[in-house]
Amino acid sequence: MPIDTILVFNFGGQYCHLIGRRIRDSGVYSEVVQSDLSPEEIRRLGRKFNIKGIILSGGPSSIYDEDAPKMDKAVLDLGFPILGICYGHQLLASYLNGKVVRATKKEYGSSYAIITKPVGVLKGLGKKEDVWMSHGDTVLSVNKDMEVLAHTTNCPIAAFRHKTQPIFGVQWHPEVVHTKNGGKILENFIFDVCKSEAKWDAERTAIGYIEEIRKEVGKERAIIAMSGGVDSSTAAVLASKALGKRLTAVFVDTGLMRENEPAKIKKMAQKLNVNLIQIDASRTFLNELKGVSEPEQKRKIIGREFIRTFEKVAKKVNARYLIQGTIYPDRIESGHSKKSSVIKTHHNVGGIPTDIKFKGVIDPLRDLYKDEVRRLATKLKMPQDMVHRQPFPGPGLAVRVIGEITQEKVDVLRKAESIVSRELDKFALSSRPWQYFAVLTDTKSTGVKGDSRAYGYVIAIRAVESKEAMTAGFSKIPYDSLERMSTGITSEIPEVVRVVYDITNKPPATIEWE
Ligand code: XMP
Repeated sequence: MPIDTILVFNFGGQYCHLIGRRIRDSGVYSEVVQSDLSPEEIRRLGRKFNIKGIILSGGPSSIYDEDAPKMDKAVLDLGFPILGICYGHQLLASYLNGKVVRATKKEYGSSYAIITKPVGVLKGLGKKEDVWMSHGDTVLSVNKDMEVLAHTTNCPIAAFRHKTQPIFGVQWHPEVVHTKNGGKILENFIFDVCKSEAKWDAERTAIGYIEEIRKEVGKERAIIAMSGGVDSSTAAVLASKALGKRLTAVFVDTGLMRENEPAKIKKMAQKLNVNLIQIDASRTFLNELKGVSEPEQKRKIIGREFIRTFEKVAKKVNARYLIQGTIYPDRIESGHSKKSSVIKTHHNVGGIPTDIKFKGVIDPLRDLYKDEVRRLATKLKMPQDMVHRQPFPGPGLAVRVIGEITQEKVDVLRKAESIVSRELDKFALSSRPWQYFAVLTDTKSTGVKGDSRAYGYVIAIRAVESKEAMTAGFSKIPYDSLERMSTGITSEIPEVVRVVYDITNKPPATIEWE
């Protein structure tokens, strides 16, 4: 029996993935799909999933924009419960003969809604609720078959429902944490309205992943790109269960790794019982990156060089498939849907050249978020230090040396990185920031070392708290630790004169600087 599933129509909003994430947190599977699916395509998806309802996400467009994303109106007649959020709310209202106007003033940020009828998706909510608004257009009226459930100062119809069908719209974003009872709204929809059963957990799907790899690779051989992070290690464990000796793991030393990384990865592969080949490609990577300072170009070059190296190894071991540890947020940020924007090209997604010489590229973890991967890794009995290894981007120190990369800069950053880790690794696992590292900015600054003027690099320390890397807050680490890192970096690395701490959340910044 296919699993109960909520489809999330993606209208390009940056929060769209969060809707999918929150649903899965409640134990119900969600699948983010493009917004213009036809009824026939939905029926086809229905063979794979037991579709219980549809959520229409927010998006950056106005419904009046010429290229505004639309949905097939016939979807409304399929009988599925539907919840429209923000842009989805406006689109629903307009399809159902309501009046939507372009706002004279955009509303963005925390606000409150007055709940006049706490029913349907708003069941159990108070009279006044904190909500997160981010919209331009506003629904001014709905037709007589609808009932208004809530309003805000600027929105006379901030929530509505159809009187006889399970169709709802909310102007605010229940998926973001600033909407205090947002989780309740989504749960009302998926459980009360859609009658879904909470049966999804990432672990149960491991067997499915193993089967998928086995089926796709058949009797051939595959290589797996292994960086040592939790994603590629988990994918390697699954792939090795699926293929046994027909799998070769490949670690590419790009010359952009942290201190002792290659040795650590060798040990890790032994622990996991995975057959590993290490390739030293540092000279090629640095040569190809010479003179390049634009972040997206760096990422693309790295993606290309990774693939070229994998192709060479694959030829040697006679493998025709490439398996990777790409996870869901990598795909989202690389702009996997037509209407969403590319935040950054993850080396293993958008960075892949189109003329790859593999018969197939398999990303078994493509639908999982980081914390789901960690749960799966624990279930697979992988060592805890591996499960909780903090993420390290595939492009490595290349995206942490801002601007042009030189060997000197990489060496400086590598030292700074190890000092930051030395300090924060001391924290118990539970109180350690989610991710921490150093960045070599492309600014130089004046300082004084000994009794003389010094002119040198500025290192930034970045430490963040996050759950699934899609949003993050800067870590409030103790001043003493910050001071020890700053003193350590400036005294042990002669080329650095100044250390700053990055206090930006994501959004608006990203976790990595490039
Ligand atoms: P951003 O900078 O997009 O990073 O907020 C989100 C998380 O992803 C990691 N990251 C990458 N991981 N390949 C990867 O495997 C990449 O190209 C890449 N870029 C960013 C980053 O370290 C953070 O944990």
